[in-house]
Amino acid sequence: MYLLSLSLLLTLYTLSTALDNGLVKTPPMGWMTWERYRCITDCKNDPDNCISENLIKAMADRMVYGGWRELGYVYLSIDDCWSLKQRDSQGRLQPDPDRFPSGIKALADYVHSKGLKLGIYSDMGNYTCGGYPGTTLETIKIDADTFASWEVDMLKFDGCYSNSTEKAIGYPKMSVALNATGRPILYSCSWPAYEGGLPPQVNYTLLGNICNMWRNYGDVQDSWDSVLSIMKWYAANQDVLQPAAGPGRWNDPDMLITGDFGLSYEQSKVQLAIWAILAAPLIMSNDLRTISEDAKDLLQNRLLIHINQDSLGKQGRQVLKVGRLEVWKREMVNGQYAVAIVNTGDDGIPKPIATSLGMLNITQCPAGYKLYDVFEKEFLGYFKSNTLINLKVNPTGTVMLFIHPASVPHHGHRKYFGVM
Ligand code: GLA
Repeated sequence: MYLLSLSLLLTLYTLSTALDNGLVKTPPMGWMTWERYRCITDCKNDPDNCISENLIKAMADRMVYGGWRELGYVYLSIDDCWSLKQRDSQGRLQPDPDRFPSGIKALADYVHSKGLKLGIYSDMGNYTCGGYPGTTLETIKIDADTFASWEVDMLKFDGCYSNSTEKAIGYPKMSVALNATGRPILYSCSWPAYEGGLPPQVNYTLLGNICNMWRNYGDVQDSWDSVLSIMKWYAANQDVLQPAAGPGRWNDPDMLITGDFGLSYEQSKVQLAIWAILAAPLIMSNDLRTISEDAKDLLQNRLLIHINQDSLGKQGRQVLKVGRLEVWKREMVNGQYAVAIVNTGDDGIPKPIATSLGMLNITQCPAGYKLYDVFEKEFLGYFKSNTLINLKVNPTGTVMLFIHPASVPHHGHRKYFGVM
């Protein structure tokens, strides 16, 4: 009897806290201010880069005219440093009127008129990480209601300036408060990143019930070292992280920095390949007004996006690491696979690799597989399990393969690569 009521209570608890917004059955895609624009608030000296409605509107325009929206990049998010340092007379957060003179609701209207979605940021704690007013346990409801009244579509909820107990109460409470607004708001929780990212401190079952995505680890910086350290952490902890992800609930290794200053062309491919394999949100932080054609071409790679957005929603894994060679693999719907072969070596020589589908454990389809090179946008031919696949992987670079069972019809080259 006691056991029964305990399990009933637990079920009721989960039901009452479950996030029920039906969003992001595939990983969200979009753009966010933080990595590239940080906390620039001086619009007098840096009008083009300060956190302001002008910046967001400029990016909204680019997302439409640059072809980003059509490919799925629809979330446009303001990170920290958007508000005034004081709440208004009714206790609500308020945007800095110098930088957001039209207010957030008008900005949301603008973003929606472009077919995009607006994201905003707050922090479970006394202050945001940048020192702006945070959301305390007492203000969760009023803040959720304020964001919904502005018709915001996403909330990134950071975790500076609170302790573990407050977070354990506050993150589920915000989930309930967002649900109660009746507006579907993508809920991105930074909670696990503040608790070391691993059980027993982090309960991924609970997170999957209350959040749509969550940061597990430290902030991405504009460097190859940073990308490598993130890859290393996700590989080391994949037994815990992989089962936590699925449709509507994603691990977030942080923003894409392709198009910024720190990564070479080859290194950008690596970040994109691994983020696609990990079923990670593809949230760029870069300048879409000045982005190079090369970076744009990588971020707009249709086959890469097809892999990231696979409807099975199964996160991939690092399946091999020998010295500076890594193999990452993701299982997709209908027996498809994606494989990234990464060379983290920096000795300057494109590394010759001979492999086969058999060696990659991709043998289920007796008719064999069609192989595509994702970044070269090339059809490589039909392969049986023992056919040799000869590749050359550039230093700090990757070759990414899309592997399609020969017996299953598919959309053909045109969809993946554009006109061929
Ligand atoms: C933390 C987060 C970052 C960003 C900043 C804002 O560091 O992890 O992604 O939101 O705060 O201050």
